[in-house]
Amino acid sequence: MKRVAALVAGLSLCAFAASAQPKPEPPPTPQEFAKGEELFGSICSHCHGPHMVNPGNASFDLRKFPHDDRARFFNDVMNGKKSMPPWKDVLHPDEIEAIWAYVRTGGKAPQ
Ligand code: HEC
Repeated sequence: MKRVAALVAGLSLCAFAASAQPKPEPPPTPQEFAKGEELFGSICSHCHGPHMVNPGNASFDLRKFPHDDRARFFNDVMNGKKSMPPWKDVLHPDEIEAIWAYVRTGGKAPQ
């Protein structure tokens, strides 16, 4: 019986570790942000709207994208999602990083 209790305790510890959030990312540099803003304006805004303001189509409103979910952003952007094409053959990882800098700050330039 004791063993079972230890196992259960161990399992819930694992679940806790897996759900723990990584440390927040440091703010992007102004250069990185500016590059992301420019790329967003030339590539993503066709569907996601200028300054991330959703133009009322089926695309996701990127102002609502969670600012701490880097993994989800990279996965969606690299591989595409439903009617959004994949970008991994179009954009360099540095460029996706810069766009992430723009999105995760909610479009507010770092000081
Ligand atoms: C051809 C139109 C189009 C373009 C261009 C486009 N997207 Fe999308 N994007 C969409 C659509 C439509 C969805 C919603 C997919 C769905 O139904 O879940 C989406 C979803 C997303 C999501 C997923 C949000 C989630 O639910 O996790 C992210 C992130 C995203 N786009 C980022 C970008 C970025 C960054 C760019 C520029 C490199 C870009 N998109 C360019 C159409 C587009």
